[in-house]
Amino acid sequence: MNPIIEIRNLNRHFDSGEERFHALKEIDLTVERGECVILRGISGSGKTTLLSIIAGLDHPSSGEIRVEGEAIAKLPDRHLSRFRGRHIGMIFQHYNLMEELSVRENVAVPLIPMAQNMRQVTRRVEEAMERANIAHKADQKAARLSGGEKQRVAIARALATDPEIILCDEPTANLDRANARRFLEILSRLHEMGKTILIATHDPIFEELPFEARVVEMENGAIVDGRSSEE
Ligand SMILES: Nc1ncnc2c1ncn2[C@@H]1O[C@H](COP(=O)(O)OP(=O)(O)OP(=O)(O)O)[C@@H](O)[C@H]1O
Ligand SMILES: [Mg+2]
Repeated sequence: MNPIIEIRNLNRHFDSGEERFHALKEIDLTVERGECVILRGISGSGKTTLLSIIAGLDHPSSGEIRVEGEAIAKLPDRHLSRFRGRHIGMIFQHYNLMEELSVRENVAVPLIPMAQNMRQVTRRVEEAMERANIAHKADQKAARLSGGEKQRVAIARALATDPEIILCDEPTANLDRANARRFLEILSRLHEMGKTILIATHDPIFEELPFEARVVEMENGAIVDGRSSEE
């Protein structure tokens, strides 16, 4: 076994005044390289919080997390953003696009810190836009796109760096069925390439995934089923 993500006794709480809210409780989760994991659970169960911590965008209150063997909770921010740029592609629930930039520019953003030459950047951006079916809007400002188009820009941006780990938060929430199916095909190709994929979703379309995925069930900030592929 060759885990790419290892999480032990992880907790995340939020304090507001006297109140403490436990968003993640004693999370144990192991994901093997090349696995596809579907995070399921009702709204508020902690899926986005968990994905943000795996992406190094948020820190646990306690516990351990290793991604590619690196204890990311302890990395200083500047190392963390480099780490993220190298290993992680994230499709956010709310896209997080730069509204004033064009589609092409949004997709290029994660490539900037990688200091590649312009030809290479252009090639990767064009490829990613083609794969996500958004190339025809390359020069349009993100602010002018529909929800489904924004989601496809977010998909293209996550693919542009060719990351080992792809984190998706409700990636099909705003896609019509044709584009949702297209996204499933993108995932199949990524899976064949050996990428590790985590998806938080309620969408029943993921039952149509043409490859095996492990379902991890979350409830009230805890994992109630599917902690490791050996269960
Ligand atoms: N920064 C924060 N401050 C306070 N509470 C937070 C914060 N972030 C998340 N929470 C709380 O943690 C809980 C889990 O939130 P999270 O966004 O992880 O849920 P989710 O499973 O992704 O839900 P959804 O399916 O609606 O996207 C929620 O009750 C939320 O209000
Ligand atoms: Mg969420």
